[in-house]
Amino acid sequence: MALILALESSCDDSAAALVTSDRQILAQAVVGQNDAHRPFGGVVPEIAARAHVEILPGLVRQVLHDADVSVGDVDAIAATAGPGLIGGVMVGLLAGKGLALASGKPLVAVNHLEGHALSPRLVDRALDFPYLLLLASGGHCQLLEVRGVGDYRRLATTIDDAAGEAFDKAAKLLDLGYPGGPAIEALAKDGDPNAVALPRPLVGSGEPHFSFAGLKGAVQRAVQAGTHRPEDIAASFQQAVVDCFVDRTRIALEKSDAPSLVVAGGVAANASVRDALRQLAERNGRRFSVPPGWLCTDNAAMIGWAGAERFAAGLIDGLDAPARARWPLDPDGEKVRGAGVKA
Ligand code: KG4
Ligand code: ZN
Repeated sequence: MALILALESSCDDSAAALVTSDRQILAQAVVGQNDAHRPFGGVVPEIAARAHVEILPGLVRQVLHDADVSVGDVDAIAATAGPGLIGGVMVGLLAGKGLALASGKPLVAVNHLEGHALSPRLVDRALDFPYLLLLASGGHCQLLEVRGVGDYRRLATTIDDAAGEAFDKAAKLLDLGYPGGPAIEALAKDGDPNAVALPRPLVGSGEPHFSFAGLKGAVQRAVQAGTHRPEDIAASFQQAVVDCFVDRTRIALEKSDAPSLVVAGGVAANASVRDALRQLAERNGRRFSVPPGWLCTDNAAMIGWAGAERFAAGLIDGLDAPARARWPLDPDGEKVRGAGVKA
């Protein structure tokens, strides 16, 4: 059994966790920075990086205290090394390197996307490779065949915005503040998903790619028209995203024999998204798995678990491991116009 101390700092959540290779989370702590970014309606990279400098060391001390272990007891230090906002990535990765250097323990430089991708296996021990993954977060929207640790085949990506980004932009248009996903989901509960006619970009196309920029424009026009209730716009927007997910993932299922369908990343915390994808899996005879909401949004437990999986596979990194703003899971994936520009 290996014990991993993990750090996450790729966006606006500072997090630390202690995770074992037999799927126990001994301790974890997440501190969001919503209050710091809210006045700007989105994450300000410089503010995020500075906040990680202040918050992360205390979180490391806290999880070690909560689990009653010392750095000397851990087998490896896992830290997010990208992709993400580069200032924050550098803060967390260097903190991890400092801990590794001081303790003499190996470093595992974790791809944040691999953290999301492997997170379902932390809580679902029966989930074996391969599985088809819809990874929907603030920075990414991809369909990937997860074949093993470090082994990914990308079937589709977004040609413009990520799904979470679309939620955040729609929320901004509705004056709901940041982050938008949970606010839209809460408001949508009182709305009619059929009230506002919104587009379903790329639905029906033969390749399972995503596009959300046009949806944002349509929400903007609906808001400006002033004739719809905000609840109805929120519900209609959420339904449009869900419809895109279901249609695009259905196409991807035609291209993959993987026995399981998995959804992960911050947007997978959304109950409508989870329900719709579960039903799609059932209709297609696939096993379905989705992590609990707290494991979908950014956290260090998923980085610790990805670190444990990589450590078990002998995949450790040198103290010269680079911090990467961009780091695709499938570097051989077909280039898609406009895709992957954002971290
Ligand atoms: O995975 P994550 O925490 O961070 C990134 O790696 O990007 O995802 C954050 C994104 C944000 O865009 C947020 O609005 C969205 O996930 N999100 C949600 C929900 N909770 C978080 N979107 C829809 N419904 C939610 N309940
Ligand atoms: Zn994330």
